[in-house]
Amino acid sequence: MAETILTVEDLKKYFPIESGIFKRTVGHVKAVDGVSFEIKKGEAFGLVGESGCGKSTTGRMIMRLIEPTSGRIVFCGKDLTAMDKKALRKTRKDIQMIFQDPFASLDPRYTVERIIEEPMIVHRLGSKAERKKRVRELLEVVGLSSYHAKRYPHQFSGGQRQRIGIARALAVNPKLIIADEPVSALDVSIQAQVINLLQDLQKQFDLTFLFIAHDLSVVHHFSDRVGVMYLGRMVEVAESSELYRNPKHPYTNALLSSVPIPDPDYQYDSEELAGDVPNPIDPPKGCAFHTRCPVAMDICRKTRPELKEVAPGHLTACHLYNN
Ligand SMILES: Nc1ncnc2c1ncn2[C@@H]1O[C@H](COP(=O)(O)OP(=O)(O)OP(=O)(O)O)[C@@H](O)[C@H]1O
Ligand SMILES: [Mg+2]
Repeated sequence: MAETILTVEDLKKYFPIESGIFKRTVGHVKAVDGVSFEIKKGEAFGLVGESGCGKSTTGRMIMRLIEPTSGRIVFCGKDLTAMDKKALRKTRKDIQMIFQDPFASLDPRYTVERIIEEPMIVHRLGSKAERKKRVRELLEVVGLSSYHAKRYPHQFSGGQRQRIGIARALAVNPKLIIADEPVSALDVSIQAQVINLLQDLQKQFDLTFLFIAHDLSVVHHFSDRVGVMYLGRMVEVAESSELYRNPKHPYTNALLSSVPIPDPDYQYDSEELAGDVPNPIDPPKGCAFHTRCPVAMDICRKTRPELKEVAPGHLTACHLYNN
């Protein structure tokens, strides 16, 4: 059994909503509302769910770019939420991020070399000559060429820029890479190439990934396990193939039928997902999904179902599976 690299426990982020000149807090956006999961070393964990369900906020809390409201993040046995600034700075090297928008995430004033070198400079790794050498290796690793080093981001296409972002993330040999919708800004024809690259790199360097996407078909190929979020909560976690063949939660089922995966072995009740995602400022009582659930029962309107194991390694938060 591989060791656990990341454990997220009951993580919450409530963004305050302020009003008036005194910035009085008038309510909270419950962006993440009690999320728990773990990632094993060498695993690719996919996080999916509709827009606004709290995927990016979860990823950014793990990066400590956003301060959690409560909960614990344990990375390589250390509690990130209890770390002082200095310890945190050291740990940051081990968690790198690949961003959604390869146009906004690369500084246009810097050469590709400087961009990829940046995290090595920040973490004081290697001499100047060693860093330059590493940049050239990394460019080859991500399918670009060493002569690209002296160019600027605007000279590259979206797919190439994302490769530069990937090289930058790899530069400091991170233990965990958080990829937040790394291909959704790219042309469909380019998406598969970048996904394939990430998959190759994962195997080649035994990388651990948190892969965020709302397109289930993307996550399906990439991930060993998948977590499904709805309105700030985790509603289902299972091995990827198990989740796709045997979804337990009605929300997962609805997501799957809205993004059919071309495989005759898979069959879903084609229940369309009705209505909009409720407002995270005032989420529904009980199960947050009950307002859109085709099989909601009385208890769903009153009691929030806990995430629990319903088959080996398969967790879901749904009253259908209580007894
Ligand atoms: N800084 C913030 N202040 C207030 N509310 C925020 C802030 N950041 C995010 N939110 C809200 O928190 C909720 C979750 O946002 P988040 O970006 O985590 O969702 P997401 O699942 O990544 O969505 P998408 O698929 O669109 O990227 C949304 O309702 C969003 O409007
Ligand atoms: Mg997001």
